[in-house]
Amino acid sequence: MSEVKPLDGRVAIVTGAAGGVGRATVDLLTRRGASVVAEDVDAAVAGLEGPKVATVAGDVRRAETARKSVETALSRFGRLDILVNNAAVIITKDILATEEDEWNDLMAVNVTGVFHHCRAVLPHMIAQKRGSIVNVSSISGLVGLPLQAAYCASKGAIVQLTRQLAVDYAASGVRVNSVAPGSIDTPFLARYLESQPDPAAAEREIKAAHPMGRYCGPEEIAEPIAFLASDASSFITGAILSADGGYVAR
Ligand SMILES: NC(=O)c1ccc[n+]([C@@H]2O[C@H](COP(=O)([O-])OP(=O)(O)OC[C@H]3O[C@@H](n4cnc5c(N)ncnc54)[C@H](O)[C@@H]3O)[C@@H](O)[C@H]2O)c1
Repeated sequence: MSEVKPLDGRVAIVTGAAGGVGRATVDLLTRRGASVVAEDVDAAVAGLEGPKVATVAGDVRRAETARKSVETALSRFGRLDILVNNAAVIITKDILATEEDEWNDLMAVNVTGVFHHCRAVLPHMIAQKRGSIVNVSSISGLVGLPLQAAYCASKGAIVQLTRQLAVDYAASGVRVNSVAPGSIDTPFLARYLESQPDPAAAEREIKAAHPMGRYCGPEEIAEPIAFLASDASSFITGAILSADGGYVAR
């Protein structure tokens, strides 16, 4: 007898799917039984294509990318249950060094991208009276961190949009939650470390800031995402789930 998996028959969209957390999430959701539309601006996302994975190359800043992912979910897999808003970029500058264009561009990816994708999926989720949206925020959305003016502001916006949407759509059967990761071993973190004057010292400092004394692998963020996407979290909405080795606990 074949094993029943928690996400059997479910269909998800994952943005930023070519990156560290995105790829791990696509992998875990499919192993748990879901079919996934993997979306990324990086054309390398096409490499994830498979029987349970459709891919969409597009920019989250554009509403039409979100619409294309929804159409792909419906045409290829026949339904849509889960949205994981994961794509993001970081600028490591204080506010005085941040140019207006840089600010606007980061906000367009990290915040407006989430806006477009929520707007594209919600009508379907409301109509079927079921859905789960998981927004990837950050410790940077919960505490102030040096040289992350635009990034902290964007992740704080995701935290509040999560709570706001949870309230608006709870009665419609749509749950909206967020995973707030600490530092994750992905290309994103590697780029951040490279931008520091002394990358090795920055790495030691980051690890020491996490009470567990390490950063995590992308699969350790995919797990809480999959939990919030599944019925195992059926009474949870508006939650910001810290997955940060204790970072914000102290
Ligand atoms: N890595 C960390 O230390 C860390 C810590 C806390 C939170 N996060 C969050 O985790 C999430 C995933 O980050 P990651 O570490 O996997 O990063 P990553 O850089 O490995 O992956 C991000 C992906 O987003 C895609 N992307 C960027 N701009 C895009 C756009 N305009 N349109 C579509 N796709 C776009 C990139 O191509 C990339 O594949 C992000 O929301 C990030 O803010 C990361």
